[in-house]
Amino acid sequence: MSLRLVATCALGLEEFLEAELRELGASKCRRERGAITFSGTWGDVLQTNWRLRTANRVLVELAAWDGSNAEALEVGAGRLVENPKNWDGLQSTRLFDPRHTFAIRATTARSQIRDTRWVGMKVKDGIVDAQRRRYGRRGSVDRKDPDIQLRVWLSRDRATLLLDTSGDPLDRRGYRMATSEAPVRENLAAACILASGWDGQGAVVDPMCGSGTLLAEAAAVALDLAPGRLRKRWALERIPGIGREAWESLRREGSRVPETGLRLYGVDQNPAAIEAAGTNLRKAGLARLSSLEVGDGYSFQPPAGPGLLVVNPAYGERLEENRDQWPRLGDLMKQRYAGWKAVVLAGGEGLGKHIGLRPSRRIPVRNGPLDARILLFDLY
Ligand SMILES: C[S@@+](CC[C@H](N)C(=O)[O-])C[C@H]1O[C@@H](n2cnc3c(N)ncnc32)[C@H](O)[C@@H]1O
Repeated sequence: MSLRLVATCALGLEEFLEAELRELGASKCRRERGAITFSGTWGDVLQTNWRLRTANRVLVELAAWDGSNAEALEVGAGRLVENPKNWDGLQSTRLFDPRHTFAIRATTARSQIRDTRWVGMKVKDGIVDAQRRRYGRRGSVDRKDPDIQLRVWLSRDRATLLLDTSGDPLDRRGYRMATSEAPVRENLAAACILASGWDGQGAVVDPMCGSGTLLAEAAAVALDLAPGRLRKRWALERIPGIGREAWESLRREGSRVPETGLRLYGVDQNPAAIEAAGTNLRKAGLARLSSLEVGDGYSFQPPAGPGLLVVNPAYGERLEENRDQWPRLGDLMKQRYAGWKAVVLAGGEGLGKHIGLRPSRRIPVRNGPLDARILLFDLY
């Protein structure tokens, strides 16, 4: 029996997440807003947690029921505990064993009940009351460090209960020890690299590299390094009965960076940013591939190309307003990076419209709470 799985992502990254899932062999992929649903096994849950670069989390759908009122929410949750179920080998009796601590997070949309805390509480009440009836005791809620992480989505009065297999979001790769101003999330940085269609050959230059996220993600894509290779923990490790051996063998793939001719060049005018980039690239095992320098990105002389230019210039809303930078950046690209591929993650006013070069694609994305665009260029 296959599982109904959901991989979530930031808005705008759905197409990249779907492409990643298809590459991993996921079936019945369906694109939703901020998520891809698909079918798979526990083996796929492990693979996706280990390999997805653009996802936030991987969730397993456990059940869906009427959630139009508090009683219905409670009864549906209790039924899950009382009537034994099996999700591709995971027994409900093991999952809802009261010796496990658990936590529930709720979201609601277009439903009669709007208070997410109330939704979470009713589902929790349904579970613990049924545990008392079935086992003579109830499980404890532990919001900080639960064994079992549950999510309930109430949408159009229908409740869906999901098991979170990731825990900390998957963009927390484990290499970003230091940040500078307005760092980009790792999964958005990965999407920029995947979107570029870069073949992994030649140098990578980020002339405004901040904490080095785009460089680190470019190297991980080019060298096929698993995004989770430095992470310490996933929620799935505490789900009873999950294939420990299969997970350990995936994790043994290890974090060794192979011998390679790949070179990463980072420039930033802010010395603290270059320090942060150095710390992060070292932690990612990429120090020996990297050259970092404090300086003006517009004056930097790139190595012989072609290669990949990546840049996430300062945003109007988040850093000091600087509207002249777009045409200046366009000129730089034309003059110094002819023959290269380029990805610009543009935010702020105008979203890079005044760059003076026609992008081959303009992809709307959200960068945290802000609208942004991934702009792709083939420079001639
Ligand atoms: C939005 S941040 C980049 C964040 C980066 N992508 C990260 O993930 O940390 C923009 C960076 O551009 C740098 N910057 C702005 N103008 C620059 C210039 N002319 N030359 C070099 N760096 C510049 C800023 O110091 C800042 O670190």
